[in-house]
Amino acid sequence: MASVELVERRPTVDEYRRLIAAVGWKPRDPEAIALALAGSIFSFCAEAGGALVGMGRVIGDGGLHYYLTDIVVDPLHQRHGVGSRIVRALTERVEHVPFVNTWVGLFAVEGTAEFYARFGYKAQRATGPAMYRWLNRPQA
Ligand SMILES: CC(C)(COP(=O)(O)OP(=O)(O)OC[C@H]1O[C@@H](n2cnc3c(N)ncnc32)[C@H](O)[C@@H]1OP(=O)(O)O)[C@@H](O)C(=O)NCCC(=O)NCCS
Repeated sequence: MASVELVERRPTVDEYRRLIAAVGWKPRDPEAIALALAGSIFSFCAEAGGALVGMGRVIGDGGLHYYLTDIVVDPLHQRHGVGSRIVRALTERVEHVPFVNTWVGLFAVEGTAEFYARFGYKAQRATGPAMYRWLNRPQA
């Protein structure tokens, strides 16, 4: 297997679409993906033989609040430390934000809380659940 290199860059829209499809995430509008990627504060790509095999981004307001999102590794490259390298690199970037009381969050999908805990992220106290809504969801 080709060695995996971590590069600080944003994925292209096509790379993003291919990678989320590879892990079974729902397709998203290309225009929305382009806007989203352009709005990233920090972004890393993992490449093997010139192809994207992993990605991760930090989004937020650039001042008070930051979120890790779209941490994805191609199934063929999972469990080889690639996801850890991406999360570590993003975490090091936000650790250099110079403001006091900077807040960094993420939604850990089921089964990944321990993965993120290795980098200092804690589950919130169960005083209330994290909440969300999907909008404009196509009917199945
Ligand atoms: C979660 C994900 C990014 C991890 O990437 P990865 O490259 O496989 O992670 P690593 O190899 O660095 O894993 C380090 C450790 O985290 C743990 N871990 C990784 N993925 C895990 C998973 N899906 N469930 C439980 N533990 C996991 C393991 O303990 C692993 O160590 P081990 O291989 O020695 O057992 C990857 O599984 C993925 O892309 N999943 C699909 C998309 C997704 O759910 N992303 C997370 C959104 S919150």
